[in-house]
Amino acid sequence: MSLIKIDGLKRHYEMTSGTVKALDGIDIEIEQGERVILLGPSGSGKTTLLNCLSALDSPTDGTYSFDGNEVPRNDSEKMTSFRRENIGYVFQFFNLLQDLTVRENIQLIQELSGKKDPQRALELLELVGLENEVDRFPGEISGGQQQRVAIARSIAKRPSLLLGDELTGNLDTETSRKVMDALVKACEKEQITSVFVTHDESLVRYATRVIRIDSGKIMSDERVNAE
Ligand SMILES: Nc1ncnc2c1ncn2[C@@H]1O[C@H](COP(=O)(O)OP(=O)(O)OP(=O)(O)O)[C@@H](O)[C@H]1O
Ligand SMILES: [Mg+2]
Repeated sequence: MSLIKIDGLKRHYEMTSGTVKALDGIDIEIEQGERVILLGPSGSGKTTLLNCLSALDSPTDGTYSFDGNEVPRNDSEKMTSFRRENIGYVFQFFNLLQDLTVRENIQLIQELSGKKDPQRALELLELVGLENEVDRFPGEISGGQQQRVAIARSIAKRPSLLLGDELTGNLDTETSRKVMDALVKACEKEQITSVFVTHDESLVRYATRVIRIDSGKIMSDERVNAE
């Protein structure tokens, strides 16, 4: 069974000037373990699609099932618990808590999801290559290192699906590479399925599948880098 199955997904906005078709009939099936890169011009619907996948937003039409279950919509409590149970999110701006150390940033998330595990927090930081920075504060490490803390944090609760929107958007090429390497390694080890939005074609080499969208529709969908 696929992890994600969406059919005819639409997200339309009714504006006084007319209907904005942010998503206009999207069909995608994603198997567990796939690493999808979502490419498309500005305004093509990428963020809207991520928001629908994570149940931050409700589609206006179509179906979406996750692990065989219909994903809740138009019910913020049910949507929140769906997100809490299943979704990890990495942001462009790392959103680390500045008054907590690297280690504490990870542990806080574990505590919030009721899965406190200091050993695992350390293992995750090792996985992203930050074993020597655990007791520093975010202000005392580089941007790429902060993004790797954010990755460790996003997988700390063992999400089945990890989403990222321009997560290397603020990083230089070399740092992006380090962050993506850490991410791929973490997803493989933890068997996490991922969907990342980017403008950066060079990130395609980290994906197992590339989906291009434009004007709320899929333009192409191909498997890449088959092993
Ligand atoms: N709240 C909203 N109300 C009306 N229209 C919206 C709203 N949010 C997004 N849109 C429109 O939906 C379309 C898709 O927006 P979306 O943010 O998904 O694009 P994107 O592909 O993520 O673009 P970018 O690469 O610039 O981040 C755009 O035309 C946008 O103007
Ligand atoms: Mg966007």
